[in-house]
Amino acid sequence: MLIKFFSFLKNIYGSHRVGASAGKTLLWLWLKRDLTKINGDLGIDLAGGDMDNKRFFSTKKYLCVDIDAERLNRARDKHPDAIIINSKIEDFLINENSEKGDVYLCTQTMGTNNLFDHDNTIQTIKSMYDHLRQGGSMVFNVACPKNFDHIKNEVGKFLEKKFENIDTKYYGAFHFSPTWMPGFLRLAIAYIMNFVPPIRTLFTLKKQRIYFCCKNKI
Ligand SMILES: C[S@@+](CC[C@H](N)C(=O)[O-])C[C@H]1O[C@@H](n2cnc3c(N)ncnc32)[C@H](O)[C@@H]1O
Repeated sequence: MLIKFFSFLKNIYGSHRVGASAGKTLLWLWLKRDLTKINGDLGIDLAGGDMDNKRFFSTKKYLCVDIDAERLNRARDKHPDAIIINSKIEDFLINENSEKGDVYLCTQTMGTNNLFDHDNTIQTIKSMYDHLRQGGSMVFNVACPKNFDHIKNEVGKFLEKKFENIDTKYYGAFHFSPTWMPGFLRLAIAYIMNFVPPIRTLFTLKKQRIYFCCKNKI
């Protein structure tokens, strides 16, 4: 009985992507909930890196674009069915020859990754929209400890009335853990933040990240 219970817990744990902190794990919880429900022919993981989010795509085909060729090749060894394109996402999205997708994802890059030019954030979001097929959906996050309102307002204004449904969430708490904590605890804190919104931003003290899930381009 006890063994069955532990193997049940292990299966639940294994079905999640548990990040290095509870804050990152919260983002993967939202992807698990949102992205898995969005179907389509082609899913494009922009700056997809190690393809750790491939598990959340429900599209028939999966394409990963990344600037880091070595990382892409390593990830493709683990996911031989993935299509890879070694390019800057900014270039991919304005290239007339690049195939357009039904679902776009871009996480942990805009505002966070040191290879990304953060001045390109708003233009990249606009290009994602332009490149997306009609009826398609795009999911992304932006981190912006500084200049946060500017990004939020400009992106919000641009996306307004362009999708049937837009879900926006602020978060940022427990993004960096001062001490190591076990994975199940990170997952439990992520669930608590999911259900209790004020904790996601530590009552606005850590309102530093924003998650957008935009469904069905009009
Ligand atoms: C922290 S990883 C995130 C990977 C994945 N999106 C995730 O959420 O697990 C950031 C990735 O962005 C890639 N990257 C940064 N700037 C890029 C750009 N302008 N074009 C394409 N890839 C970029 C890096 O090579 C790296 O693989």
